[in-house]
Amino acid sequence: MRAAATGFRIAPMRPEHAEQTLAIYRLGIEEGNATFETIAPTWQAFDAAKLDEHRLVALDAGGRVLGWAAVVPVSDRCAYAGVVEHSVYVHPEARGRGVGLALLTALIASTDAAGIWTVQSGIFPENTASLALHLRAGFRVIGTRERIGRHHGTWRDVVLVERRSPTIT
Ligand SMILES: CC(C)(COP(=O)(O)OP(=O)(O)OC[C@H]1O[C@@H](n2cnc3c(N)ncnc32)[C@H](O)[C@@H]1OP(=O)(O)O)[C@@H](O)C(=O)NCCC(=O)NCCS
Repeated sequence: MRAAATGFRIAPMRPEHAEQTLAIYRLGIEEGNATFETIAPTWQAFDAAKLDEHRLVALDAGGRVLGWAAVVPVSDRCAYAGVVEHSVYVHPEARGRGVGLALLTALIASTDAAGIWTVQSGIFPENTASLALHLRAGFRVIGTRERIGRHHGTWRDVVLVERRSPTIT
């Protein structure tokens, strides 16, 4: 498996990973192309929002967090019970070695196994690394929402991507 070959493994996210997970989130936020958020949440808020069953970290041999992935439900309407929105963040120093792809692949295995049929996300068009990662992981582009929100006072577009599970019919 690629993870073994590149010196990291995917594991469930636990409270002991909180600090490093939020630090990686913060670094992504500061780069300005990952999310509309301008500050990282507290662990309490993060923990309350993200579904327990689908939170993953990539750990190096020493147990350091290299990246994480997690999901939130998109709606409380029954029809959308199997639809989630995910986030994936990799530490800047750990990028380009398959960590993001391994996290997304494991996340999809986890959501598929739980009967979640659609995993979606919104990506700034400028975030070419994330767009490429998601296409590589089997997501498709739905379209671009124009000037959908303000980020530091500037209107920004968001590309919607989704992955519909072929196994949940
Ligand atoms: C997007 C992000 C998660 C990618 O993580 P990563 O671990 O570097 O990605 P991987 O090494 O697994 O790359 C997987 C694929 O994505 C694509 N990719 C990744 N980084 C890329 C880049 N900078 N440019 C172009 N393609 C890229 C490649 O197709 C790659 O596959 P390949 O190696 O077989 O060619 C990472 O850049 C990141 O954390 N960015 C900041 C946070 C963020 O933007 N999160 C997403 C919010 S929508």
